[in-house]
Amino acid sequence: MLQPKRYHPTLVTIHWLSALLIIMNLAFGLAVLINIPNDATKFMPLANHMTFGLIVLVLTVARIIVRATTPQPAPATSGNPYLDKLAILVHVLLYAGALGMGFSGLGIAFASGIMPLLAGQPVSLPQGPEGFYIYPPRMGHDLVSYLLYLVIAMHVGAALFHQFIRRDNLLSRMWFGKR
Ligand code: HEM
Repeated sequence: MLQPKRYHPTLVTIHWLSALLIIMNLAFGLAVLINIPNDATKFMPLANHMTFGLIVLVLTVARIIVRATTPQPAPATSGNPYLDKLAILVHVLLYAGALGMGFSGLGIAFASGIMPLLAGQPVSLPQGPEGFYIYPPRMGHDLVSYLLYLVIAMHVGAALFHQFIRRDNLLSRMWFGKR
């Protein structure tokens, strides 16, 4: 099979949609969600957060399947073998981070009984000073989010390095066009 110049369009769509939803959920989770008191005013924003997070989880599983079953462009190089190895690790951690946020989020949701929010039904939210932290997956959600901030920063940094310093137009591989 011929080696394509770009990723499969399904993979490109999933990549940019996941990027948007993950960044929205990270920014909104940190800046807004955790500052809303655990009363009825939190139902709608929490339901939105859970919905977007579950879409990311489904997209990530779909992405792994599409990646394994479609031909990929040749491995990219940064010009440095150590950075090339680091890039592979960062890509694996991006997948692990997306799955980790989804599964730890589901863990919080099942442990705290808030899944009915997805059907628009009221639930009771944890009232003590620790909030959702009384459920162990909440700490996992925190820790994985720190990992994601780090690997997303490295990933964006690498894309900018390729685009503006190496000028190899690597970004075009993750966009639509003739393969
Ligand atoms: C891409 C997926 C997701 C991302 C990026 C994300 C991000 C975040 C962030 C940044 C926070 C705030 C603090 C922190 O943990 O660092 C948070 C809190 C939370 N998330 Fe997620 N999340 C995702 C998926 C989910 C899912 C699938 C659920 C449930 C089904 C969920 C439920 C919650 C809950 C219950 C909180 C706690 C809110 C609080 O403590 O007041 N998340 N999330």
